[in-house]
Amino acid sequence: MKERLQKIIAAAGLGSRRQAESWIAAGEVTVDGIAAALGDKADPATQTILVRGKKLVGRRGHLYLLLNKPAGVMCTRSDPQGRPLIFDLVPEKIGVLFTVGRLDMTTEGLILLTDDGELAHRLAHPAFKVEKTYLVRARGKLSQEHLDALERGVVLEDGLTAPARLDRVRFGGGHTWLEITLREGRNRQVRRMLEAVGHPVSRLKRIRYAFLEIDGLETGRYRPLTQGEIARLKNLVPERKNDRRLPE
Ligand code: URA
Repeated sequence: MKERLQKIIAAAGLGSRRQAESWIAAGEVTVDGIAAALGDKADPATQTILVRGKKLVGRRGHLYLLLNKPAGVMCTRSDPQGRPLIFDLVPEKIGVLFTVGRLDMTTEGLILLTDDGELAHRLAHPAFKVEKTYLVRARGKLSQEHLDALERGVVLEDGLTAPARLDRVRFGGGHTWLEITLREGRNRQVRRMLEAVGHPVSRLKRIRYAFLEIDGLETGRYRPLTQGEIARLKNLVPERKNDRRLPE
């Protein structure tokens, strides 16, 4: 099936659509040996596409995995200190995958892995406000005032957080347990929000990503998404022609 070149390049994870457009405009993309122009379409299954001299390997379908990350595993591709990597949890033969967003090394729970660079970019983009729910254990007993503040928004060094939802708040053993649902995903956001109200997080686990639940998925294990789940995810972050909402 023919698709626009910038879409094919982005889906292969070589760069954003905007980057792909600039490579096409600069004559750095060829289709069957002929320099492509902006707006050209191609079929990666039957045509040879070179991006800056590198062959783009087309696949029939993308891969979408839901993984329950253990604590102590990094979401980076390599680590100079040799710590365990999330990509070591899936067989190498699967090929290059990306994580959709990241979890801190000490955070556990759900994370999506895919080779669909375009969908990964859209899901992680703040414009789409995909919901993420975390189970939090925080030190001490949070007052109602602090709980209200977390829901309304707290001021962090990168600005006020958007309204959040709190559920299942309980106290025991010197800790407060709660579930917090965010529609944004700033770096270390949950930890920083709890620090801001004076109750540092001692355990953090992502238990829901959009409509995907952790139940039944053991720590360190993954499962492929069903076709229905993939379709629902795509619906959450619809593509629009000439969509300019997504900055680089
Ligand atoms: N918030 C955090 O503080 N850490 C994570 O890993 C995810 C959300």
